[in-house]
Amino acid sequence: MSTDQEPLEIAPNVQEFLDSRQTLTLATATPSGAPYATTLLYVSEGPTLYFWMPAATTTARHLEQNPRVSFAVDDYSADLSETRGAQGIGDCHVILSGEEIARVADLFGQKFPSLAPGSTMSISFFRIAPTEIEFIDNTQTGGSERSGTFGAEFHKRRAYSVFMDLPLQVVEHITAELRTVHAAADEVVARQATPADRFLIVVDGELEVTREEDGHTETVATLGPGDLFGEMAILLDRPRSASVRAVRPSTLLVLERDDFRELVAQSLGTTGHFDQLIQARLERVGAGG
Ligand code: CMP
Repeated sequence: MSTDQEPLEIAPNVQEFLDSRQTLTLATATPSGAPYATTLLYVSEGPTLYFWMPAATTTARHLEQNPRVSFAVDDYSADLSETRGAQGIGDCHVILSGEEIARVADLFGQKFPSLAPGSTMSISFFRIAPTEIEFIDNTQTGGSERSGTFGAEFHKRRAYSVFMDLPLQVVEHITAELRTVHAAADEVVARQATPADRFLIVVDGELEVTREEDGHTETVATLGPGDLFGEMAILLDRPRSASVRAVRPSTLLVLERDDFRELVAQSLGTTGHFDQLIQARLERVGAGG
């Protein structure tokens, strides 16, 4: 193989996904960073992806000047629980070796038998050597799978399952507003009886919810990935009903008070899960707090 670096290792299910899809969206950029995205037919060989295109395109020109690319291969659905996709970054170069061109042309012939062979004179074949691939699989229990290097984006996606039942527009609005914060072990993230400024989702870690009453502190819940908190005081316009403390280092997503109120205003009565969750908590507060 004539790639520039060691091929990335990818999990078999990611490989199977890449092998079975047909199109990828490729984003290139000029040296000064002006982006450009296009959708292409591709073939895969391990983590390496190949495509072809006429030599005189904007994409081909960009690649000549700047080989860095990002790409996405996905099954996107309005029902986010059905969404699967691979996103990656890497280097993309035109293939010059006749032997490699012949092999890739053959891979195209096998994967797309209906494509007319035509003349390969005016087209170029390109090789994407990924340096990172992120695989999201919302069809799996727990929301996502991981392969390669992930950043905060991965965690955000994982927590999006919390909002799965909301209309897509609302989810897009929320995801644009979410901020990632980290809490050290023992850090108090929300303090009972103080004003509420934000709503939070647990991405990683463990937190303890405690209520203090008549001098006694009682642990009322333990929160882990996917759990949310801090909604009650915002919705009821009251001080915090409990304190929430990180038991160990934790990663959280934060939605500011006004964005959360807007979200609830848009979604209550129109969605199942979120509506029920909020109602159940409010009833509990009404009954007990
Ligand atoms: P809020 O009152 O805004 O701040 C403290 C949060 O702790 C509260 O919202 C809830 O999200 C959470 N909380 C309070 N009581 C419980 C409970 N019994 N079970 C789970 N979470 C709770």
